[in-house]
Amino acid sequence: MRIDILTIFPEMFENVLSSSMLGRAAAKGILEFHAHNIRDYSDNKHRNTDDYPFGGGAGMVMLAQPIFDCIDAVTHECGDDTKIRRIVMSPRGKCLTPELAMELAKEDNLLILAGHYEGIDERVMELMDDEVSIGDYVLTGGELPAMVLIDCLSRFIPGVLGSSESTEDESFSGSGLLEYPQYTRPAVFRGREVPAVLLNGNHAEINKWRRQQALIKTKAMRPDLLEKAELTKKDLEFLNRLESETKPE
Ligand code: ADE
Repeated sequence: MRIDILTIFPEMFENVLSSSMLGRAAAKGILEFHAHNIRDYSDNKHRNTDDYPFGGGAGMVMLAQPIFDCIDAVTHECGDDTKIRRIVMSPRGKCLTPELAMELAKEDNLLILAGHYEGIDERVMELMDDEVSIGDYVLTGGELPAMVLIDCLSRFIPGVLGSSESTEDESFSGSGLLEYPQYTRPAVFRGREVPAVLLNGNHAEINKWRRQQALIKTKAMRPDLLEKAELTKKDLEFLNRLESETKPE
């Protein structure tokens, strides 16, 4: 997959996209990143990328011209007939979910615009396929959200995660439950013991314990997820028992 990022701070992407799993995926040729500085496409002599809003009001608005020209250049670079899914990061967009990340992971070309200032000239939105938010809070710019989106969707591209890592068991996928607790060596650390069930090699017992822990964690932290999760009869019995045990007399 080729990902083109449009930003006024391309340097923010350098370390993130060349480190860890994303860096490894880029080195393997699974992902290709191109961060473009919108300022390079400004046709005004001060290389401005923003101006005052028509109608007045606080803050500045990102100019349409450098963004249109940058998109034209990227489109040309990718081959004029290449289909590119265009996304703008914005707190007013649809919320990023695993389903959206999985859908985007199937594309061959993505263009991600990181917005700034009070907003972007609305005419830019006509060029966009999706407006995506990473949550109901406002950040100082779209760069961190763009990185979050790239990281999140990359994990669903075959070959990005190692064969031992998986998106199956983790929180928000597969079962719809939060992940169970994990431990590694030593078995006792500063007097704190690993649950004995994990040390006895009985995989049926371990799986049962993990499922129950995922139910306990989800009930405590995100009870809303239990409504949508695929629960077995045993899960429901366990949750009912948990309920009656924790109910005050
Ligand atoms: N830009 C600023 N805040 C944002 C958010 N929550 N999601 C996406 N883009 C943003």
